[in-house]
Amino acid sequence: MAKLTRRGFLVGSGAAAGAAVLAGCTDNGQAGSPAATTGSGTGDPAAAFDPADWASVRAQFSLAPDSAHFNAWVFASPPRVVGEAISRHRAGLDADTLAYQEENEGTLDVDTLAAAGEYLDADPAQLALTDSTTMGLGMVYGGLRLRPDQQVLTTEHDFYSTHEALRLTAERTGATVNRVSLYDDPASASAEDIVARLIAGITPQTRVVAVTWVHSGTGVKLPVPDIAAAVATANAGRAEADRALLFVDGVHGFGVEDVTVADLGCDVLVSGTHKWLFGPRGTGLVWANESAWSLIAPVIPSFDIVNFQAWLDGVPPVVDRPGQAGTPGGFHTFEYRWALAEALRFHLAIGKDRVQEWTHTQATQLKEGLAGLAGVRVVTPMAAELSSGIVCLAFDSLDPFESVLTLREAGFVAGLTPYRTGYVRVGPSLVTTPEQVDGLVAAVDDLL
Ligand SMILES: Cc1ncc(COP(=O)(O)O)c(C=O)c1O
Repeated sequence: MAKLTRRGFLVGSGAAAGAAVLAGCTDNGQAGSPAATTGSGTGDPAAAFDPADWASVRAQFSLAPDSAHFNAWVFASPPRVVGEAISRHRAGLDADTLAYQEENEGTLDVDTLAAAGEYLDADPAQLALTDSTTMGLGMVYGGLRLRPDQQVLTTEHDFYSTHEALRLTAERTGATVNRVSLYDDPASASAEDIVARLIAGITPQTRVVAVTWVHSGTGVKLPVPDIAAAVATANAGRAEADRALLFVDGVHGFGVEDVTVADLGCDVLVSGTHKWLFGPRGTGLVWANESAWSLIAPVIPSFDIVNFQAWLDGVPPVVDRPGQAGTPGGFHTFEYRWALAEALRFHLAIGKDRVQEWTHTQATQLKEGLAGLAGVRVVTPMAAELSSGIVCLAFDSLDPFESVLTLREAGFVAGLTPYRTGYVRVGPSLVTTPEQVDGLVAAVDDLL
């Protein structure tokens, strides 16, 4: 097995951990592991995909079959249909890069935007395509048109990417960034308390409220619709130019929760699509409504035809598609971006409601199973309203990193939270089964 390091787990909430996991998987011959006996992701590649059948869904993935992948959503291994689309686009580009783009007359980006619009029930003109959540957060916070007397309100629970993007925003604009804590003990967090604590932090100068939908350090899912309603109340009587807008890092809810942008009620939703959506690596998106797009200046010049034509004509662009005007230009790894359409449609074919139910049911089963064991504390709330797929655990007397290594040896791939307080982090998803959840509970029991 490839050597896994403590630092790799912490730094690698993204690429480094993904690489380590994959490296670990390829030479991890655990024929007798619980994962092997309960079955895992891969199946007969030739069999037709039946989105109504979970075994068929899992058979679409190339994840090593000798492990149960409770960390697969950190940096996705995409399903077969996505891999095939990447290969198809790559072959077209490799054969004749310009001809392939011309043959498709700009329809491929449009197709990805249409699929994302359908997935979120959003106007594609308000969607920007990115390479990651971090790029999206960098774009929206890096482009904020803020005055030095204005404020951003964020929380103690956000990931590095939000905190660092906002540190740079403060440096650039002179605006102040304030942080509040939304709960003391994640397991006993309450929706009302979360909303009350956040809203108490809003001042007349607050222009942006920056939160994370599902906290990757604890598994707490924020009641975003309630927060949006409370922010709207706080905005009563404010001029349009002074309203506080709600920005959400949605990466750990996107691909799990069966909601639309209207359901969430936020002004901006930023997400990578290479985590729970199991989309191509190096893809993501930003959705923002009209008010929010007007607050965000593009950071990287767009290659949208409107902008390009305006440049050719020597006039300022008249932006009627803010999402495309906000999409960083330059050439990208387009084969991945275009294959994102297939990943979105893969979820739509299964049904967003069924994906949510499958993930939540296993997460509840896992939390209930673990709660019955002595020596382990489930950090993530039990309630589905305050949790999603992420489940964080604390052990009374075991080292989290050593525990992850032992679980891996038993055939269960888990991870660590990349935060100051480190927990063992697991998450059931499309590629796990209720039997594997039982196996994981038994493996944790053995560990204890
Ligand atoms: C809450 C949260 N936001 C953003 C990121 C970064 O995502 P990406 O790798 O898509 O930039 C992570 C972890 O990787 C995360 O946990």
